[in-house]
Amino acid sequence: MPVFDDQLAQRIDTYIESLFVPPDPILSANIANAEAAGLPPINVTPNQGKFLHLLALIAGARRVLEIGALGGYSTTWLGRALPADGRLITLEFSPVHAATARKNLAAAGLDGIAEVIVGDAAESMKAMIDAGEQPFDLIFIDADKLGYVKYLNLAMQLSRPGTVIVADNIIRNGAVMEKNPEDSNAMGAKAYNAAIAAHPRLESIALPMFMEKIDGMAISLVK
Ligand code: SAH
Ligand code: DHB
Ligand code: MG
Repeated sequence: MPVFDDQLAQRIDTYIESLFVPPDPILSANIANAEAAGLPPINVTPNQGKFLHLLALIAGARRVLEIGALGGYSTTWLGRALPADGRLITLEFSPVHAATARKNLAAAGLDGIAEVIVGDAAESMKAMIDAGEQPFDLIFIDADKLGYVKYLNLAMQLSRPGTVIVADNIIRNGAVMEKNPEDSNAMGAKAYNAAIAAHPRLESIALPMFMEKIDGMAISLVK
């Protein structure tokens, strides 16, 4: 089997970053604050953040929902794509992660449009559905991978035709191709990929992304 050249992939990632993602003190501080607070370094990469930002711009998004805030790194990229009267809701189980995200979003000047809701994301989404929350323009799924299919079904109820649904970590270095992945993250991602592929109201693709390992994002358009 051909060996994945992780050094070449890393160099390409750095090349892309040097072209399209200028150094940004707010984003650097975001990562430093998350590390200082003991958060795991599982935020999206700078290039992936730029990609999310661009997707939100292309979608003309005014209302974004994120599932899994961590320290608010991807949240900041998404929030910066929104107009001044936009709305960004991010759902986070951990109070420590949520507090870090709030601090980082305030430092980015996004506290006026971004809200961090603490609790189980599925419960928060059900509450939003029950409250008649308006549909979102873009939904980014990036919390516990075994919950992805559940989040997808709830996300459909917070969508309209034209909503873009994006999910992170859907390749897991190819482990999603195993018949029965041992890794629970890959198991959840595999089920998610199958669910969006079969969904009658979604047009989708999975996009591999090369970093130190191969992961990727799935993009779906609600029909
Ligand atoms: N989107 C972030 C990374 C998120 S990491 C970024 O790229 O910057 C995944 C996050 O999901 C973690 O902070 C974790 O605490 C949170 N999470 C895990 N299970 C959850 C659940 N059931 N409900 C809400 N958040 C959850
Ligand atoms: C991991 C990476 C992620 O982007 C994430 O959301 C969760 C876990 C990981 O590599 O373990
Ligand atoms: Mg992720």
